[in-house]
Amino acid sequence: MKPLLVIYATREGHTRRIAEHVGSTLEAQRPFELVDAAHLPSDFAVGNYAGAIVAASLHAGKHQAEIVRLVRHHLGELQQLPTLFLSVSLTEVTVEDPAADPEKRAQAAADVKRTIDEFLTDTGWHPSHVAGVAGALPYTKYNFIIRYVMKRIARKAGGPVDTSRDYEFTDWHRLDDLVTHFVQSVPA
Ligand SMILES: Cc1cc2nc3c(=O)[nH]c(=O)nc-3n(C[C@H](O)[C@H](O)[C@H](O)COP(=O)(O)O)c2cc1C
Repeated sequence: MKPLLVIYATREGHTRRIAEHVGSTLEAQRPFELVDAAHLPSDFAVGNYAGAIVAASLHAGKHQAEIVRLVRHHLGELQQLPTLFLSVSLTEVTVEDPAADPEKRAQAAADVKRTIDEFLTDTGWHPSHVAGVAGALPYTKYNFIIRYVMKRIARKAGGPVDTSRDYEFTDWHRLDDLVTHFVQSVPA
């Protein structure tokens, strides 16, 4: 049986955690390989896999450049496979927050959809499944300037502003459900 590919691109490390979590969910279900898009093995070929889960975080409205390059470069093979694209962002936190103002939630959902659509238009990719995933706010890992900027953004969004600690918003159960649902669509 061909393994599934779990490939990710991260800047601050949270999407790696997400990819590793996807791996732990897959462990009981299917063979898989976890690949960092920034360090592709020399013999990397999408055709070696039965399906692919591709995860990338969002910075300044754009998904990680390694994933854009990877998808463009392997587009033909990716289009032949069942695929799930996971877009990791803080905007998705508002989308998933039941306590958020309904108008803000709808705006956040529209923003997540727009950035995903831009990425897909830009690369020409048509994944079989697409989902937003709530990311993290690792204040202690940021430099002074990024911490300041992210605190201002968080304050405006009604998010946490204690910069002495990190915050993680990913709904791991929802992620498990997304992955399990996707795996069921991949022929054994
Ligand atoms: C400089 C910077 C810019 C960001 N820009 C966006 C953005 O435009 N939209 C968004 O929803 N989240 C944005 N985020 C939040 C990240 O997508 C989020 O922290 C994610 O968990 C990062 O994942 P990573 O650690 O795998 O890179 C930004 C974060 C930073 C530090």
